[in-house]
Amino acid sequence: MQSFEQYTPTKVVFGKGAEERAGKLLKDAGASRAFVVYGGGSVVKNGILERVRKSVEAEGIIWEEFPGAKPNPLLSHAREGVQRAIACKADYILAIGGGSAIDTAKAVALGAAEPGTDIWEFWMGRKEIRKALPVGAVLTLSAAGSEMSDSAVLTEDGTGHKAGVNADAIRPKLAFMNPELTYTIPRYQVACGVVDILMHTLERYFTPVKGNELTDEIAEGLMRTVIKNGETAYRDQTDYDAMSELMWCGSLSHNGLTGLGRPKDFAAHKLGHGLSGMFDKAHGATLSATWGSWARYVYHLDKERFARYGRKVWGLNIEDTEGAAIAAIERTEEFFRSLQMPTCIGELGVGVLPDEVLRKLADSATKGGTVEVACFRKLSAQDLYEIYKAANHE
Ligand code: NZQ
Ligand code: ZN
Repeated sequence: MQSFEQYTPTKVVFGKGAEERAGKLLKDAGASRAFVVYGGGSVVKNGILERVRKSVEAEGIIWEEFPGAKPNPLLSHAREGVQRAIACKADYILAIGGGSAIDTAKAVALGAAEPGTDIWEFWMGRKEIRKALPVGAVLTLSAAGSEMSDSAVLTEDGTGHKAGVNADAIRPKLAFMNPELTYTIPRYQVACGVVDILMHTLERYFTPVKGNELTDEIAEGLMRTVIKNGETAYRDQTDYDAMSELMWCGSLSHNGLTGLGRPKDFAAHKLGHGLSGMFDKAHGATLSATWGSWARYVYHLDKERFARYGRKVWGLNIEDTEGAAIAAIERTEEFFRSLQMPTCIGELGVGVLPDEVLRKLADSATKGGTVEVACFRKLSAQDLYEIYKAANHE
């Protein structure tokens, strides 16, 4: 097991009515001016915003709204949020929504804590992250895990360059998680969420470091739980128990727990970010579109690992290592298809891409071909190109 640090500072309030506790807990945290970040209006329509506002204002906390976080949130919008948060002297950033609202809130929290710095400097690694205003989240979609994660992902306007930062300073301090709030998610987003949750643990499971018994068991248990409850949720997203399991899996899949003691791979995330940044496609869909091609490209390096995944997560009863490894990949793709998720680039709705676009995607993920990414197998720009190419069909 590799040495590790674990930091999970998020106080989680889970269950029916959780969002109505926001005011009291923000007050306890010392908030006096809440800057409230949300997306395109689903939280207005379904009444969540109003309920949280009442709870926060009842504690005498000033409420300032910042709507408009788009799926695949934009840098320009986050920059605007920073200016607004500074102008209103916000001391607490509260997101209401899914990963896009929460990531925008994290960007605002960073920028407002360091007013002299353009936030993209953090994303480009040119400026170290030292501090941020406290962030809280009322979660309305189980997917990205941003409510407990140390990361935030933004897309640069114009270039479509999608990038993330990781820092403990932006881990949310509070997360309000009421599974009932997820009943109104569009069905497609339920499926994207299931893929993303599964992927956050898969991308921690396939790494070169061996011998993490407990982490392996936690990861396998989490993946079985996502698959089982994801199937139920996709059929009936008002099933409280299934939506609860999914919500909690979403948080634990990306707060570090399922990867303790080993490095993260995150190859599919690299491949997916390129596609969602360039074509503005849902994050989860870009992951299912590329994962199978990645898996077939690398599985020979550790067939035993893929076979174990097949046996322990999918219950495959295949003794032969090669057979079990291949069946595990196929079974995962069948699951994606059962959720109507794409398993190739063509099914993303972008057509089959010209070769030069694949090269551009591979270059952009590797800083112009100067670095390798991932770790199960280190991948160069040429490797990423080959994987994109294998996924590039209808
Ligand atoms: O914008 P609104 O109107 O709120 O609608 C949203 C949006 O259209 C809708 N929605 C959310 N909750 C709803 C709802 N509609 C009805 N009822 C509800 N209860 O769903 C759509 C998608 O929302 P979004 O927040 O974009 O989805 P998700 O949570 O999947 O977040 C995706 C973003 O998170 C990033 C992704 O790259 C992407 O930009 N990620 C962030 C991570 C992190 N910070 O740790 C890790 C992930 O790997 C991921 O990269
Ligand atoms: Zn993800």
